[in-house]
Amino acid sequence: MGKYLATRNPEVSGREIEGRKRSKEIAKEAVVLLENDGVLPLKAVGTVALFGNGARHTIKGGTGSGSVNSRSFVNIEQGLNDAGFQVVTKDWLSRFDIKKKNDYEEYRNWVINRAKELNTEYHIVAMCEGPRESTPESLKESDLVDAETCIYVVGRNSGEGRDRNEGRGDYMLYEEELEIIEKLAGKYDKFILVLNIGGILDMSEIKNIKGINAIVLLGQLGNITGEVLPEVLLGNVNPSGRLTDTWACKYEDYPSSSTFSHVNGNINEEIYTEGIYVGYRYFDTFRIPVIYPFGYGLSYTKFESEYVESSIDGNILTISVKVKNVGEFAGKEVVEVYGKAPKGKIDKEAHRLVGYVKTSVLKPGDEETVKVSFDIKDMASFCENCSAYVLHGGAYVFSIGANSRDVKDVLFVVLDEKVKIRLCKKLWEKDPVLSELSSSYKLAEGLDSDNTKVEDIEGSDNVDVINIKASDFNVITYEYTEERKELITDIKDKVTLDMILKGEAKASDLVAQLSVKELAFLAVGKHKKVEDGDAGLVGNSSVGVPGAAGDTSDHLADRGIRSIIMADGPAGLRLQPIFKTDLDNNYIKGGEMFDDAITPLDDSYDDSNSYTYYQYATAIPIAWSLAQTWNTDAINEAGLIVGNEMEEFGVDLWLAPGMNIHRNPLCGRNFEYYSEDPLISGKCAAFITKGIQSYKGKGTTIKHFAANNQEDNRFFVNNIMSERALREIYLRGFEIAVKEAAPLALMTSYNLIAGEHTSNSFRLVQNILKDEWGYKGLVMSDWCTTVDYPEQYYLYDIINPKSAPSGCVKAGNDLIMPGVERDVEDIIKAVETGEAIENFSCTKADLQACALRVVETLVEIEKRKLDK
Ligand code: BGC
Repeated sequence: MGKYLATRNPEVSGREIEGRKRSKEIAKEAVVLLENDGVLPLKAVGTVALFGNGARHTIKGGTGSGSVNSRSFVNIEQGLNDAGFQVVTKDWLSRFDIKKKNDYEEYRNWVINRAKELNTEYHIVAMCEGPRESTPESLKESDLVDAETCIYVVGRNSGEGRDRNEGRGDYMLYEEELEIIEKLAGKYDKFILVLNIGGILDMSEIKNIKGINAIVLLGQLGNITGEVLPEVLLGNVNPSGRLTDTWACKYEDYPSSSTFSHVNGNINEEIYTEGIYVGYRYFDTFRIPVIYPFGYGLSYTKFESEYVESSIDGNILTISVKVKNVGEFAGKEVVEVYGKAPKGKIDKEAHRLVGYVKTSVLKPGDEETVKVSFDIKDMASFCENCSAYVLHGGAYVFSIGANSRDVKDVLFVVLDEKVKIRLCKKLWEKDPVLSELSSSYKLAEGLDSDNTKVEDIEGSDNVDVINIKASDFNVITYEYTEERKELITDIKDKVTLDMILKGEAKASDLVAQLSVKELAFLAVGKHKKVEDGDAGLVGNSSVGVPGAAGDTSDHLADRGIRSIIMADGPAGLRLQPIFKTDLDNNYIKGGEMFDDAITPLDDSYDDSNSYTYYQYATAIPIAWSLAQTWNTDAINEAGLIVGNEMEEFGVDLWLAPGMNIHRNPLCGRNFEYYSEDPLISGKCAAFITKGIQSYKGKGTTIKHFAANNQEDNRFFVNNIMSERALREIYLRGFEIAVKEAAPLALMTSYNLIAGEHTSNSFRLVQNILKDEWGYKGLVMSDWCTTVDYPEQYYLYDIINPKSAPSGCVKAGNDLIMPGVERDVEDIIKAVETGEAIENFSCTKADLQACALRVVETLVEIEKRKLDK
């Protein structure tokens, strides 16, 4: 056995088969039924006229580091065939194949030439200027063959490095697509539109087309995407997914629509004028009509939900709801609970999601009482004037419902007076360019919580009242790190990992013995020297596990400090599927993959002079689809699938989950993120982390901290927002994940906030993450954020500086990944001279603090492995 854990057996493994099965069970819960006039479920299999760019070229997940190199993939056509349907439009599908192939070849040649012209690499151009979706093949009369059902599949792909486009072919359907859909919907009695997408589409034009009998949001479900659709069509699966975003009537309705990313031509600066009004917080507060509200999704059956009772234990409220299946199909329902806060002196959103539960499968006539618990403190708002999280006095109204627009008030929690529950220090001044949207909303029907008095509601039907007192809250006053102290040790022997694991020394003793140079090496990943190749095909620079994204330094191997190995996510484990070594098990270059940038395997190696290894991982559903299950057990299960594979291949940290907020539907990486809502994002990240971390010594890396909401010019965009919006919307999910699941690692983002790279932000990383939330894990940068890499940014006129290595050290961004020699040099110089380098100075104590986290993380990993 060599140094790699990958297998040399080329056969499909039992784990792969199991992984697919388990992933399919999760995927079945992720499908959202958007429209259905009763056509679904179909009575039986039969003939299908299948069209659309996603029919045969089905998308399993997005592109870039979020794409998983799985062994096999079932597209929709194959899925239908395997289920017993007969696809009768092979001619159209084959003509579209040719069109797609030609478009792709043309694009590929264009990329090759452009890369040459720009003197850059293929994958960089492909990432910055991805292909456009092909227009559909036109319809001939002969394509309109008789069939019992017609299905049109719209596919849309996106990925890191560029945002989606608001125009046709992306957010809007091509006119050709609309025309074909209209024609087919007019011809066939049963016409079903299937969305194989990773983010929101314009639905207004589609909804105007007559004859569409059902719309299924299939999403992108990994290897088995095509297997899931027939199960839904036939009713073996009753759709129970719910939207985790608001689908607006038109793109322009999103509050950030006119300024987002490239839309206003300014990719350097993004001003968050909508403040906290993101997603349903905006649409529901300002009563903007929507196509599909947040939380929406249909089922083949009907449910009735009835409020049962509420209770309070400390600060934890529990609302019980009885759900009854009053229809004719077995299925699952999601109970959503929203809370609205009294206004007090600051503007508030109409309501926010505070909890949710999915029922088990309920047969017709069955009922189940579910309990939704949450902390009343989650209703606090951040007051910028007093730098505190505040609960205002008055009535907190909680409602239950099936989506954010269909809720019923059930509980009033009345707080006697205002209480500041968490006292922070002022970290950011409001930027003078920022003027934020504010509301003077009045709650619609019934009671206005601002003015509601207990007497008005006591004794009302099926509404409960709970009184709470400001004096019952524990008030937290945070203490903030100012200057770090240098570590010292009395131990004279050379401290090793083994000694730490045996309790003979502490990680701090080891770190205290290190020279500045050794410390600097630890604070930077195991980088390849420039002369040994580039800084790494993005996210492909691990030495320990081929195709993993990176490793920590092995400079202290003599002390037992091995490299920590990290691989992407979030839709599974991204590894190089096939690689070769020589007979001494030394890796042979070749076979590296990043989307369609593939280095060929060196064919001078065969079985006589090399070994071939296989690392096929399960492509699980994309994060957006996972979140749309609204099922925390399913998300935990996704973590278990990945955790198992990390163990098999020897990966320590998964570079996922991604959990940025869907601020705008055009963000190129929305498919990798969960929702417009921080609670869902936080819960999903927490549950997938729990799944992964139940494997001893395996950890997640929640990313990208924070506000990585734009992909165009992602390395340099400066986000200007209020501290309140930052904390309540963009940090809240991270806070939940950190507090509920203690992920072993966290990745800062490329972007700037308030003129500062997040990886250089002492306020964000040290003050909020570490001081306020008590985060003890490893903080790493996103890949190459400190590298001056103009070839990557050729599209943009950049005005902001890159992230500074010395700034990372100062901020408490413990590790720069994957790092370059220059990072090490800059850090050493900054510490040894005391000078500011790229505007940041740092001390030996700052550097020790970073190195300490790297060592402590390894210690934690190894300790957990030893735990029985
Ligand atoms: C992405 C990260 C990813 C890293 C390593 C970066 O380009 O932004 O999300 O984890 O590469 O592949």
